[in-house]
Parts: sequence; C-alpha cells; structure tokens
Amino acid sequence: MDFKDIDLDKIDLSGKEPLKEPERQYYFMAKCREWVKAESEKSGRPLTFITQTFGCQMNAKDSEKLAGILEKIGFIETDTEEADFVVYNTCTVRENANTRVYGRLGYLNNLKKKNPNMMIALCGCMMQEAAVVEKIRKSYRFVDIIFGTHNIFKLAELIHSRLISGGMIIDVWKDTDQIVEDLPSERKFRFKAGVNIMYGCNNHCSFCIVPYVRGRERSRNQEDIIREIRELVADGVAEIMLLGQNVNSYGKTLDPPVSFANLLKEIDEIEGLKRIRFMTSHPKDLSDSLIEVMKNSKKICSHLHLPIQSGSSKILKIMNRNYSKEDYLALVDKIRAAMPDISLTTDLIVGFPGETEEDFLETLEVVKKVRYDSAYTFLYSKRSGTPAANMDKQVEESVAKIRFNRLLKVIQEISSELTGKREGEIQEILVEEINEQNNSLLTGRLSNNILVHFKGTPDMIGSIINVKLKECKGFYYLGELV
Ligand code: SAM
Ligand code: SF4
Ligand code: F3S
Repeated sequence: MDFKDIDLDKIDLSGKEPLKEPERQYYFMAKCREWVKAESEKSGRPLTFITQTFGCQMNAKDSEKLAGILEKIGFIETDTEEADFVVYNTCTVRENANTRVYGRLGYLNNLKKKNPNMMIALCGCMMQEAAVVEKIRKSYRFVDIIFGTHNIFKLAELIHSRLISGGMIIDVWKDTDQIVEDLPSERKFRFKAGVNIMYGCNNHCSFCIVPYVRGRERSRNQEDIIREIRELVADGVAEIMLLGQNVNSYGKTLDPPVSFANLLKEIDEIEGLKRIRFMTSHPKDLSDSLIEVMKNSKKICSHLHLPIQSGSSKILKIMNRNYSKEDYLALVDKIRAAMPDISLTTDLIVGFPGETEEDFLETLEVVKKVRYDSAYTFLYSKRSGTPAANMDKQVEESVAKIRFNRLLKVIQEISSELTGKREGEIQEILVEEINEQNNSLLTGRLSNNILVHFKGTPDMIGSIINVKLKECKGFYYLGELV
C-alpha cells in the first residue's frame, strides 16, 4: 500500500483502531482531523501549529516528521508560538540546551492563558530523562503531552488520547527495536532533505548522554533508504544528508550485515541525485572502503566531519573514544592522500575531567596540524548518568573558559586562512534561500559546506549554479554569478 497519497477522509472510523503500524497512526490522524475540522469551523479560522527544534540534525529531521503528521491532521504551520499546537523537540546533550527549554516554557504558559484551547507537547531527548519528566509533571501542569525519542511516530494517537482524557499524557519509552516506515514528513527545504539511515548509538563515550536517550543502534534496511531517496529525488530533491550518530557503523546489526561504504555506493547510483552528505563519522570506524567510495564519487560532497573531541591520547582514553591522537592523525593523512582537497571539520570538547594544561596544548597542536576548515567547540557539560559526571578532577569553569577562547582563536585563524585561499575560484553552489540579513542577496552552499552570498534571483533557489568566490569574509564568501 502506498501511504503517501492516502486520503484520510476515506478511512473507516466506525470500527476499532488497527493494531499494525503505520495503519494505526493513519487511523488516529483521521480521527484527529475530524476534531481539527470541527474546531476550525467553531472558531471560524484554521488551527495552527509550530514545531521548535532545540537539537541536532536528527532532532530537526524528527521535527519534520512531527510537522508532516500535524499537517495531515489539518493544522496549518505558522512561525509564531501564538499557535494552537506548539511542540518543543528538546535536546539534552549539554546543560544549556535544557535551560533554554525551561526558560521558554514560562512564556508558553502565558500564551496558553490567552488561548485555553492551545496544546503544548514536549518531546525529544530531554524527555527521555525521568527527572525531567517528573519536574514537568509537578511544576509545569499546563503541558498537555510528553513523549520521547522512540515514539514520535505516535503523535496523532497521543493527541487523540489527550482529547479523550482531558489530562496530561505522558508516554516515554525506555528503548525500542521498532522502526516505523511510511509516515508523513514535511520537508523544510524542497530541494534538500535529511534521511535517517540509523537510530541510536552503541558507543559509550564517557561524556555523552545520547546513547541513554536515543537507545541502542538500529539501522534501517538498505531498500527502505534507497526507496525514500528515490522518492525524494522524484519530488525535486538535489541534495541529501544521511543521518546517524555514527554512520560508519551503519548496517552492522542488519541481517545480513551491510557496510556504510556499500550503502553509499548504491545511493551514488541514484539517477537525478546531485549531492550526498552524511554525518556523523566516528574516527574509529572509518574504513578504507569508505575513503575509496568517497574518492570515486562525483556526488559525495568534498567535506568530512570527523569529531576528534580532544588532542590528548590520555583524555581520549578516558573519554572512551577508542582511538589515540596518533590514530586520528594517521587517518587524516590517509584521507588527505586520497582526497587532497577535502574539507575537514570537527567537534572539540574543552574542560573534560582531568584535562591539564598539557592535554589542552596537545589539542591546540593537533588543531594546528590538521588545519580544520571549521570546528564546533564545546565547553564540557556534566550530564548526570554518564561516567564522566562522577569523575574526579572536574575542571574549573573559569579555567575551561579561558582554554575555550584560546582554542576558538586558533580555529578561527586557520579557518579564515583556508577560506581565503579559495578566493577568486569558480565553484558550484546549491542555491538555498534568500539571504536573511539582506534580501537582495541569495545564499548558496559549496560542496565543502561553506556558504556564499551573491546577487541573484529567487527562481535560482534549488538549482546548482557556478559562482566566482569574489571575497572571503572569514567563514563565508561574497560571490558573483558567472
Ligand atoms: N555522534 C557524534 C560523534 O560521535 O561525534 C556526535 C554527537 S553529539 C550530538 C555532538 C557533539 O556534542 C559531540 O561530538 C561532542 O563534541 C558534543 N558533546 C556531547 N556531549 C557533550 C558534553 N557532555 N559536554 C560538551 N559537549 C558534548
Ligand atoms: Fe555520543 Fe559518542 Fe555516540 Fe557520538 S558516538 S552519540 S559522542 S556516545
Ligand atoms: Fe541530538 Fe541533542 Fe538528542 S544533540 S541526539 S537532540 S541530545
């Protein structure tokens, strides 16, 4: 059955709900749709929704799935939180992600007082923490629905339960082995899309809460992924980003196992697809065959995000990353030997427990050696339940902050030097949107992920065109059509 064009108005709602997924969810979408219709008629206006994403690309992809379900139900998307349905898709990777959510909830409460029919739903990684759910249950009684990362596909059923019960609905699963295919999804961009290839993570980096809130690693079937990408391409998508916490271990749990390199090779052959990106690559699992596939592909972008986290082998060991500084540098050499022009980016944590000035200097040294095109730097944040939270020698915040600024300076210098080197070149960009700051400009993305702003016309959005990189502005370019 093709669920893409399903007509919800034709679903028989007189009988019991189906047990099988995704049929069950389409049944509940149809039920909720009746309610939305009746409410809009009563109020003389359409009901609106907004999804707010607090986390990573995977979180953003989940928000697209939530938006797809809400649109099917009959809500209209809006860009303000003065909406009838507000869903916060939360993140808990660092403490500040949590703080932001609590801060915004107070504001939502005020809005709800003005619109008592408003529904507030919270989902995502933060909701997988029992202490968070308990706090919301006790102190944020105005929240209507709480669910987690494993059951976002159930949104329609949860809304239905909320309408019937009238009270707060909490449905958070500890883990799952279920992958529900064929649910609606509403893309933010019509010409590029994220595609999940796996869920969860089987690594246990000692600082990281993700495995606890996203569960065990589960890979999607290769055929389901290929089918989704073919459909996206038929629908006008030029660029896809394959998503997983550790894409290099894709397929290990499938029967029979498949490798990420093999999956990429298959995707590379999809006609009409122009660009392929993926994230995140764990250095310990990056295979020679992956390098080979990347090297031989014209579609895989010239960019690799390879998080190192620290340049000290001692710290890497305590972080449980399973590679040393030397392993990482040797890998970089191998990648650069095969693809000399590739752009490398990374993630770095400063102030991990036990990090001394010497360890930090090693990080600086590695950054100078690798010369990253750019890097995300984070201050270590203690996440309860992770092994690092209970480690001795937590680094004082003031010390970590100074190191953080020193690191940032080095990264920025290298990054702007590297960006400057390409000044004057003519390169392909995928045109993404009208520039947010200056609407006479358009913004496009180079294969190496750097942005270019240039004068063009909105009809170019979604196409791949050539521009001259006229002027380097540090971490982006001003360009010119050629
Ligand atoms: N799976 C990816 C990997 O292994 O590289 C990254 C996932 S995580 C969502 C993104 C980044 O957040 C990590 O690479 C790490 O640098 C950072 N991060 C994770 N836990 C952190 C913590 N407790 N404090 C500071 N940064 C953290
Ligand atoms: Fe976290 Fe490590 Fe898994 Fe990445 S690989 S999600 S950093 S545990
Ligand atoms: Fe992503 Fe944050 Fe969850 S980074 S996986 S949304 S904890």
